Amino acid sequence: MANAKYEKFLKEQVDELKRTGFLAHIRILGGPNSTKSILDGKEVLVLCANNYLGLADNPEMMQAGKDAIDKYGAGMGTGRGIMSYEIQEELDKKLGEFKGADMALCFPTGYVANFGGIWPVMVPGDTIASDELNHASVIDGCRMAKGTGRIVYKHLDMEDLDNKLKESAKERAEGKTMIITDSVFSMDGDICKLPEMIELAEKHDAFIFIDDAHATGVLGKTGGGTVEHFNSHGKVEMVMGTLSKAIGTVGGYVAGSDDLYYYLRRRSRPYLFSTGFLSPAVCGATMKALEIVHREPQRHQNLWDNTKYFKKELGSMGFNTGVSETPIIPIIVGTPEKAQELSKRLYEEEEIYVQAFSFPIVPRGTDRIRTIINAHHTKDQLEYALKAFEKIGRSLDII
Ligand SMILES: Cc1ncc(COP(=O)(O)O)c(C=O)c1O
Repeated sequence: MANAKYEKFLKEQVDELKRTGFLAHIRILGGPNSTKSILDGKEVLVLCANNYLGLADNPEMMQAGKDAIDKYGAGMGTGRGIMSYEIQEELDKKLGEFKGADMALCFPTGYVANFGGIWPVMVPGDTIASDELNHASVIDGCRMAKGTGRIVYKHLDMEDLDNKLKESAKERAEGKTMIITDSVFSMDGDICKLPEMIELAEKHDAFIFIDDAHATGVLGKTGGGTVEHFNSHGKVEMVMGTLSKAIGTVGGYVAGSDDLYYYLRRRSRPYLFSTGFLSPAVCGATMKALEIVHREPQRHQNLWDNTKYFKKELGSMGFNTGVSETPIIPIIVGTPEKAQELSKRLYEEEEIYVQAFSFPIVPRGTDRIRTIINAHHTKDQLEYALKAFEKIGRSLDII
C-alpha cells in the first residue's frame, strides 16, 4: 500500500494542474520532426520547433548514428571517469573547435550542462550576477552553488548591472564574480549585450558565462554562436550549449579552456556521479551535424532569409512580435484565452502547430504564441502560415 501522505500530495497536485489546464494535452509526434510532421495522427505545419537548421531527421546524420552503433554498441554501461569511448573524446574536441574554445565537455542535456558547469566553478565567497530572465536551468545551476552571493540585474540592463557590481565591490573583493546570461532569450528572441558585458567584466573583475542554447547554429557568420556574432573570441570564459536544438540531436556541453575541461571532468558532480553520457549513436550523428553546418552554409542563410521575411510580414499585418531579433518570433496577444484560442484554431482549422504560452512561463499580460522559424520552411509554407495567421488574427480581433 502506498503512503497516504504521498498519495494525497500527488492527488492535490494533479487536480490543481488539471484545473489550470497547464500542458493539458501533449501532442504526440508519429514520425520525424520536420516542417510537416504527423501530430496526433494528422499532418500539420510545425512552426514552433527549435530544429533551426532542419537537421533533426537528416539522413546523413541518421546513417552516422547507425555506423557508430555498429562500431561501439548501443550504450555504455559505465561512467566516463572509468572508461570513455574514443568517439566521445573526439566529440568533446570537435565541439570545442566549433565553439572557438579549447574543448567542450559533453553532458546528457543542456539542462544538466548548466548544473554541471556553473556549480563546480562557483564556490563559497564567490558572486553570481544573473539576468532576471535567464532560463530555468541557469537559475537552478546557480542555486546549486551554495554559499555564493547573488546579484539579479534587470533584463539586458547594463546600467543596472554596472551599478550593482559597483555597489557590491566590497563583498565581492575576495572571491570570483561570474556574469551569467542567456545569449538568446527563449521566450522573446532578444540577444544579450555581450560587448557591453565584456567591458563591465573587465571593469569589475568578473568573468562571463553564456548560455548559447538558442544561438548555436543561429548566430554568427557560420552559426558558431554569440561569440562569433559579436567577434568576441577569447573574451568569454565559459559557453554552454545544447545539441537538442539547431544541431538536431540531444545533449549539452560546456566549452572553455583546457583547464576548465580538465577540472570539470574531475569536479563536476553531474558528470562524475553519472553513467548517463551521450551514446555512440548521438556522438556519431552530432559529429556529422557539425560537418554539415560547416559544409552547407545555405542552411544558415535560409534560416535568416525566412526569419526576416516572416517577421516583416507579421509586422506589416499589425501583429505584435515584441523585441525579437532572432528566429524566435512571439506573437503577443495579451490574454491566456486569446493565446489558447489562436493556437487551437490554427491547429484545427489551418493544420498549423504553434504553442501558446501564458503566466508563469511569461509575464502576465504578455500571453503569446511563439513561432520559431527554421531553415527548411519553404516560402510556400510561410506564405500559407501568414495567410492563416491573418485570417484568424482578424477574427479574434488581434489585428
Ligand atoms: C536557454 C536554454 N538553456 C538551456 C536549455 C536546456 O537545454 P536542453 O533542452 O538541452 O536540456 C534550454 C532548453 O529549452 C534553453 O532554452
